[in-house]
Amino acid sequence: MPVYHESLASLSESNRISSLPQRASRLADALEASFGISFSVYDGDGATLAYAPPAMPRGNVELRAELAKQVAQRREAAAIEEEGSLLTVAIPQIEPDGSALVGLATFVTSNARLDEEAPSAARLLDMDETSARIWLGKQPVWPPEALMRMARLATDRLAADQRTNRLRSEVAALSQNISSTYEEISLLYRLTQNLSLAINDEKLNRIALDWLSATLPIQGIAALLLPPPNLSPTNREARREPLLLTEGEWPLSLPQLNDLLNTVGAREARRPIVLNQLVTLRETWRFPAVQQLIVVSLCEGSRCFGYLVAVNHSSGKELGTVEANLLASVASILGIHCGNSDLYRRRAELLTGIVRALTSAIDAKDPYTCGHSDRVARVAERIAKHLGLDPRTLNTIYLSGLLHDIGKIGINDDVLRKPGPLTPAEFEHIKTHPELGYKILVDLNELDEVLPVVLHHHENWDGKGYPHGLVGEDTPLLARIVAVADAFDAMGSDRPYRPGMPDEKVDAILRAGAGKQWDAKVIEAFFAVREDIREIARREREALEIDLQQWL
Ligand SMILES: [Fe+2]
Repeated sequence: MPVYHESLASLSESNRISSLPQRASRLADALEASFGISFSVYDGDGATLAYAPPAMPRGNVELRAELAKQVAQRREAAAIEEEGSLLTVAIPQIEPDGSALVGLATFVTSNARLDEEAPSAARLLDMDETSARIWLGKQPVWPPEALMRMARLATDRLAADQRTNRLRSEVAALSQNISSTYEEISLLYRLTQNLSLAINDEKLNRIALDWLSATLPIQGIAALLLPPPNLSPTNREARREPLLLTEGEWPLSLPQLNDLLNTVGAREARRPIVLNQLVTLRETWRFPAVQQLIVVSLCEGSRCFGYLVAVNHSSGKELGTVEANLLASVASILGIHCGNSDLYRRRAELLTGIVRALTSAIDAKDPYTCGHSDRVARVAERIAKHLGLDPRTLNTIYLSGLLHDIGKIGINDDVLRKPGPLTPAEFEHIKTHPELGYKILVDLNELDEVLPVVLHHHENWDGKGYPHGLVGEDTPLLARIVAVADAFDAMGSDRPYRPGMPDEKVDAILRAGAGKQWDAKVIEAFFAVREDIREIARREREALEIDLQQWL
């Protein structure tokens, strides 16, 4: 994996601003290369002498500084002093940040008569006459027009050089930005590839921590995942305590991290919090193991699911906006995933509540068979497990067992509770309960897979069942399994008009009905796990084992 922080280091290096003396010295060198004599350099904004070479007399510094400032404002080369054959020329250079430097040099523009020129040169250059005479004797002679033309050319060239440098550093910065952005996009892309409701918060956060730890210049990183808000008390799957995941050298315990989050105000912050040694070196800072820090929250809308916390730059430098932006991008993806998972959990809890309510409604309708649905669910699930069905299908058949008789809600109480044989008309009425159940549940999309069992649990293998008279494997397998579990529990349970049949009689009826009323393979599976089923039938009714989180 390419290392993110190296490119950042070189970016900041290339952007570093030189000091005023360095820039002034560079300008003096460039002008000396063009004109062959030394230049002084003034700060055009501050009106101060920034660079003074020994070979160029300073003259009246105060006056020259003021004149340089005017040249800087006009941004054009100009002759600013004239005394006899002496001409002082000022050449401005505008820096990338808009500030200006001005190079100054005094030129001799005609063959000076040393005796005559020395006194005025001494005044202009602020030196004694002897030194002025010596200085004049060493100077080349410049035609004034050629000098000014060259000064203007030098100004243009300096401006062109500045533009070139600016473009060059912009290209460098852009290329570094592209490199950083590519890394970020690549990281986020890989993270989104793992976004799926099948992957839980803990796993996705571990993947993110692993990547961030390898990508950012940090010593340690952690994700603090809070328990989901408003958990249903019956939800046995969801996390109920905060979970701390860490990667790299992580220095804080969970209580310390909570203290830190309170201290930096993370719970109220909606933007990344970045702290460096300006804060962490203060005496009031209570977390000596944390020198640099970034905190971002895992949020979706107004809901907060936790925090990502990165600590300590691996080279002791400051953590900045680039690292904070990447963490914030990752945190927003994690936050959305947490939000989606939470919605999914709440949907599962709602559906679980609906299934419990419907199961209770069946029991309330037919108290003599209390617990029947629950036992059918468990027996059917046990048979299905023996037949090698996958966990999701086991969940489906468990729910199907719970709800298979939901249509009895629509059957008249007189008929349902009649303590004796039914008339043909009453039996026809009872026989409508699979279709009634189907109609009750058909609009609950989440229970689609339960519908075939509700509709067909009274079909017979030989086609003599109801409501559709399906034959053999035309009846869905889960319905064939529930049919056996239903018959087993019905025969073994007490009724107001008869006691429950003994096991031997129930077993004999089931064996006799294999390949006629029931699927022989299902009956075979039933007897293969007969002992487990006997145990299920003996047990008191237990809490429903509904696991819709897996099933939805
Ligand atoms: Fe039924």
